[in-house]
Amino acid sequence: MALLEVRDLTVTFYTAEGVVTAVDDLSYSIEAGEKFGVVGESGAGKSVTALSLLRLIESPGRIESGEILLDGDDLLEMTETEIQEVRGNRVAMIFQDAQTALNPVYTVGDQISEAIRHHLDHTDEEARERAIELLDRVGIPDAEARYSDYPHEFSGGMQQRAVIAMALSCDPDLLVADEPTTALDVTTEAKILAELEDLAEEFDTAVQLITHDLGVVADLCDRVMVMYAGKSVERASAEDLFYDPKHPYTVGLMSSIPRIGDDRDRLQTIPGSMPDLISTPTGCSFHPRCPYAEEACRRTEPALTEPETGKPATVGSERSARCLEYTGELNGGLDYDVTVRDDAAAPTEGSQ
Ligand SMILES: Nc1ncnc2c1ncn2[C@@H]1O[C@H](COP(=O)(O)OP(=O)(O)OP(=O)(O)O)[C@@H](O)[C@H]1O
Ligand SMILES: [Mg+2]
Repeated sequence: MALLEVRDLTVTFYTAEGVVTAVDDLSYSIEAGEKFGVVGESGAGKSVTALSLLRLIESPGRIESGEILLDGDDLLEMTETEIQEVRGNRVAMIFQDAQTALNPVYTVGDQISEAIRHHLDHTDEEARERAIELLDRVGIPDAEARYSDYPHEFSGGMQQRAVIAMALSCDPDLLVADEPTTALDVTTEAKILAELEDLAEEFDTAVQLITHDLGVVADLCDRVMVMYAGKSVERASAEDLFYDPKHPYTVGLMSSIPRIGDDRDRLQTIPGSMPDLISTPTGCSFHPRCPYAEEACRRTEPALTEPETGKPATVGSERSARCLEYTGELNGGLDYDVTVRDDAAAPTEGSQ
């Protein structure tokens, strides 16, 4: 059994303008200890998905339907007391605006110790020792002395390290990290992600890493799900996604990755923007931006399909893509003319 299995999750927000379907019939699973990336442009539904896992969607939002199984227990069926037990303990979360996770009026060390005492059966002294050890492990120099610092005495990078230490302090089965390093400079980001990866391996913690940076997932993740307009449009191993992307949106994302030597003007972005989630286009929601779109794409919503077999995909499928190409409904087929990576052959029509 997978550690986490999300089935047919739909989350909506009731706004004055209409009903926003932020997450639309989403299914995926994460194995114990696995590092699972979630990528997609701003507004794709990545954070709403993450918040749903801990039932933190607030009004006017609502989880409409679906199941979220953690080791087989449906989080959506739990009582408030039961879900509170899960939070921080079995599933820990690093929120997108992580620096607000630290309370300015308590010392960093006390906040971590408090989390440990709250969830684990530790004495004050044991909790303090574990907090210092964790601060040291996430790369806070002189952790014992810095234990008594207040958050404002930490740099942005150190605050972020402390937030990671706090999230891992209770040895969760799953860590959901929502853009954990976006606010940091590239060098600090790389170091912190490497530490996060080491710790997750050591504690055998699965990670759901949310980012809009495909370079980050390439370094860190085993498998990746690409989201677009609330839906999963492709899921694959990180390697397959990079070297042989199947969905035109993924291909577009790949070609927008800056490479060494690129100057900013030459960066490609996918023309257009994500549709309004109140009235998504008919057919494939990516069709208005898709260079390969045909008449059928305007009419028929593609099902998630196994690209190799053409069969409907399930959560267990190794790969899936939501494009009529794979259900055999495109006439012209996909004819990628983008070089996905300098060091890889771009997929050609024949290889589909
Ligand atoms: N409180 C809310 N009220 C109304 N709509 C919301 C609310 N929260 C999220 N949404 C909508 O849900 C959609 C998905 O938002 P979400 O925050 O999950 O995007 P995201 O993929 O995390 O984007 P980003 O990369 O910018 O963080 C957006 O269209 C957003 O407008
Ligand atoms: Mg977000």
